[in-house]
Amino acid sequence: MGARDVGLPDRVPAQGLPPRVTIWEVGARDGLQNEQAVVPVEVKLEFLARLAAAGLTTLEATSFVHPRWVPQLADAEELLAGLEPVEGVRYPVLVPNERGLDRALAAGVRHIAVFGSATETFAKRNLNRTLDEQYAMFEPVVTRARAEGLDVRAYVSMCFGDPWEGPVPAAQVAAVGARLVSMGCSELSLGDTIGVATPGQVAAVVGEVAAAGVPLGSVAVHFHDTYGQALSNTLAALRLGITTVDSSAGGLGGCPYAESATGNLATEDLVWMLDGLGVQTGVDLDALADTSAWMAERLGRPSPSRVVQALRG
Ligand code: HMG
Ligand code: MG
Repeated sequence: MGARDVGLPDRVPAQGLPPRVTIWEVGARDGLQNEQAVVPVEVKLEFLARLAAAGLTTLEATSFVHPRWVPQLADAEELLAGLEPVEGVRYPVLVPNERGLDRALAAGVRHIAVFGSATETFAKRNLNRTLDEQYAMFEPVVTRARAEGLDVRAYVSMCFGDPWEGPVPAAQVAAVGARLVSMGCSELSLGDTIGVATPGQVAAVVGEVAAAGVPLGSVAVHFHDTYGQALSNTLAALRLGITTVDSSAGGLGGCPYAESATGNLATEDLVWMLDGLGVQTGVDLDALADTSAWMAERLGRPSPSRVVQALRG
């Protein structure tokens, strides 16, 4: 008897999960910002078009940061100019300061994300700012963006551990997150930048964030998969009532200012689990795996996603 052609998991729902999850696809930004090689803008545009065609509706496209800090995304203006918007798809971008906001507005962006740190050390390394200075930098960005009618997400990095400072108290994460929300950000994404979290810790941090007054309906999780925990952490977060999950196609990713960070949770691994649980995502796993296999060829190395390897290896 031949092997079964396994293209999709059996569907066996479990208790205590949301009927639908929004996937915030970060491959074009978090993924490509960490590539040694600069990916040509035409390849980035095709990547985004393929991701939209696979059913992803939130595509974080790029960052309007200093081009010397992240040369891989120095083509942000060119990328936005070449983007053919797809109905029902939003293309948020990262913006750290007013200079970045000016650039994003000039490019016609309607959705931005500021990105703060839970720790002093990473604020300094990633933004060249202290924690107090990061708030001072974001405040006018958020105020102006909201006045222009833009949606604003806030990331918090190092929520589950920091390679320089070690453990990060959950209360510290919650205080940073609540402060960014009180500035006017409508969504908060909790980042495990270096991928060290485990599910009990997810419950502890998410619990503190909720206790600080941030509604879980506006909280997202952003797990890197360094220690192979991203999917279990995601399931833990979904059981707590979170319904937005960040992931990157093919597991691309990392952070150039945190060496121990590897790729994000792979979108294919997430979709495989959610399809199996009967949780809707709107994503066509086959088309997505094709896209990641195509991108892996462009990058000259295999996708780290286990599902991409199983389906396309
Ligand atoms: P700085 O050196 O302190 O900048 O960098 P500055 O404010 O002193 O300005 C210096 C010069 O840079 C000025 O030019 C500015 O105009 C220019 P000059 O007057 O000297 O000619 N400048 C800019 N140019 C273009 N675009 C801009 C911009 N800003 C200033 N936006 C800065 C401060 C925030 C700019 C810098 O630290 C930076 O760009 N950092 C970005 C780092 C980054 O992108 N990291 C990766 C993303 S975060 C991440 O991956 C984590 C996440 O995935 C979640 C997780 O996993 O935890 C989100
Ligand atoms: Mg990240």
